[in-house]
Amino acid sequence: MDELKQAAVAVRENAHAPYSNFKVGAALRAADGTVFSGCNVENVAYPEGTCAEAGAIAAMVAAGQRQILEAYVVAGSPMPVPPCGGCRQKLAEFGAGDVRVTMATTKGVEQVMTLAELLPGAFVAAHMDGDA
Ligand code: THU
Repeated sequence: MDELKQAAVAVRENAHAPYSNFKVGAALRAADGTVFSGCNVENVAYPEGTCAEAGAIAAMVAAGQRQILEAYVVAGSPMPVPPCGGCRQKLAEFGAGDVRVTMATTKGVEQVMTLAELLPGAFVAAHMDGDA
């Protein structure tokens, strides 16, 4: 099992998902090669819960890294689970359009898409250029 997949599968076990019972693990490879991982952390006040991808991004940024080279997301679903809309935007903040995002099930089904495919027409900093 490659390092990224292994990290995502392992961290998924730590997910706090008592409300959805849907555990998700995410792992990112940063520019320096380090792998960062995160799991979903739900809250009794439902909207306060956070996604696995957000946790992995927070860990990466806290460690001083700013560039995602590759991502892996795994869940115990019948089909690979894509990052939610908000997480697509969060991933796009730190990853180029050609970054590969592997979405996987715990049974080993995998689907790969690029960030550009996941978030076409992304809102980027250039959209704010020239605003008065
Ligand atoms: N979830 C993630 O952590 N990542 C995704 O890509 C999809 C959804 C979580 C949020 C919530 O804790 C649970 O899955 C059900 O939506």
